[in-house]
Amino acid sequence: MGVVAVSIKCGKFPHPLTPSRKGRGDCKYQTVKRCRIAGVTVSTVNILIVEDDPLFGVSLKRSIESAGYQVSLAKNGSEALQIASEQRLDLLLQDMQLPDSNGLDVMQDILSNQPSCRALVMTGYASIEIAVEAMKRGAFDFVTKPIPMELLIYKFRRLVEFRQMEIEVEFCQGKKGNIVSKSPIIRDLLATASLVAETSSTVMIMGDSGTGKELLAEYIHNASKRKGKPLIKVNCATIPENLVESELFGVVKGAFTDAHKDKPGLIEEADGGTLFLDEVGELPLQMQAKLLRVLEEKKITRVGGVRPRQTDFRLITATNRNLRSMVEEKTFREDLWYRLNVIPLSIPQLRERKEDIPLLIAYFQMHHQQGQEKLTLKISPEALDLLCCYSYPGNVRELKNIVEQLGILYAKELITPRHLPLSLRESTWIGHLFESFPVGRLLKDAVSDFEMRYIEKVLASVSNKKNLASEILGISRKSLWEKLVKAQ
Ligand SMILES: Nc1ncnc2c1ncn2[C@@H]1O[C@H](COP(=O)(O)OP(=O)(O)O)[C@@H](O)[C@H]1O
Ligand SMILES: [Mg+2]
Repeated sequence: MGVVAVSIKCGKFPHPLTPSRKGRGDCKYQTVKRCRIAGVTVSTVNILIVEDDPLFGVSLKRSIESAGYQVSLAKNGSEALQIASEQRLDLLLQDMQLPDSNGLDVMQDILSNQPSCRALVMTGYASIEIAVEAMKRGAFDFVTKPIPMELLIYKFRRLVEFRQMEIEVEFCQGKKGNIVSKSPIIRDLLATASLVAETSSTVMIMGDSGTGKELLAEYIHNASKRKGKPLIKVNCATIPENLVESELFGVVKGAFTDAHKDKPGLIEEADGGTLFLDEVGELPLQMQAKLLRVLEEKKITRVGGVRPRQTDFRLITATNRNLRSMVEEKTFREDLWYRLNVIPLSIPQLRERKEDIPLLIAYFQMHHQQGQEKLTLKISPEALDLLCCYSYPGNVRELKNIVEQLGILYAKELITPRHLPLSLRESTWIGHLFESFPVGRLLKDAVSDFEMRYIEKVLASVSNKKNLASEILGISRKSLWEKLVKAQ
């Protein structure tokens, strides 16, 4: 089993899921130290290397430790099982051939007790059958020795960072309802929302579709003293116009032909609790006037009725339209707008808080379930990169749908870029590339330009290591060398 020379510098990595762009010799890896979230320390990622070759095992351990991680080393299967029984493991680097047992049996044993642990299998003998067998038995990924240390660390670093995200998600659960975020903007928004929750003030939530407006409304309701009372959600865009009034205000028997009995409206049902009017910009003008009256008088009268009833509800509205300009166009009443816009809360688009993307992916994949079985998706580092740079016009909802789709279609496979939706693949890296691509050139020149730029990018991401770059590119070292010479 080969011994690999290692040289790794330790430092802070700019983005958790993108390779260093600094290039030549400047290989930096993120240090996952004990991290503090909301003032509390979250435990670090625990790594176990199971490797019987002492030289390789120790050098691997040292290099990973020098990147800032906590690592244990086991020389054989029984030591590995012993360590696994004593501590929570997040990552397992598993050699296939061990003196006392089969590496895959050891791995399977560990994974059955620690399902959230990710296993990377290392073997001296490359064969498709072994790889398939390893993946079937729960391995996350597979590498063949001798392993270029940078490649191992690249794969490994992404796995660790993703695991770190999962730990953050586990930790944050319940603290902020189901709102998962590490963005400072969202943190401030939630702080304001918590303060507002203690009052009965009217709140208006603004944000594009899928940004989490409804989730924020739930958060406010659950953080308020109205929590035990109903939260009534009304989507103003989906109730037919002729039914809006009776739905909201209720009807008395005989008010119109279909009104066979007295029926309370949704506003009345929210008594003591919260009324959430989603897409309030879609409310017809005539209804806007009636809603304004209810807000002023705190009383409602059912359709066909005469007796006003006292109501007590907190109103939260949401809109993805610019109500201010609707006021100017006279499609939304100005006096109502003032009434609703007491506490405005605005949720930014997902692309404006990209740091939330890996965290949300970790969250959605952890909550992915198939039937009764909870599954952890295997998303490759390359696929994660793509998922992290997409612009998400449908915001968090779109990201959630993509992760769910991947879970349904590829629950047991390693998800690589080719598994991602075409729209995402096209609009991300090709899209970015072409933004700055000059037109008016011959196709062959454009193609070779593209080729060179891509090769340079790959080389930079692996600190100019040509053997590793050629492996990633899928070409021989010789042909990489020829391309580089030709380009000079
Ligand atoms: N920060 C977040 N953390 C977890 N889930 C989120 C977050 N933001 C949005 N979601 C999820 O995304 C989906 C869309 O959110 P929703 O509140 O319905 O958006 P909107 O009302 O703005 O269209 C929902 O399934 C919601 O649970
Ligand atoms: Mg909504």
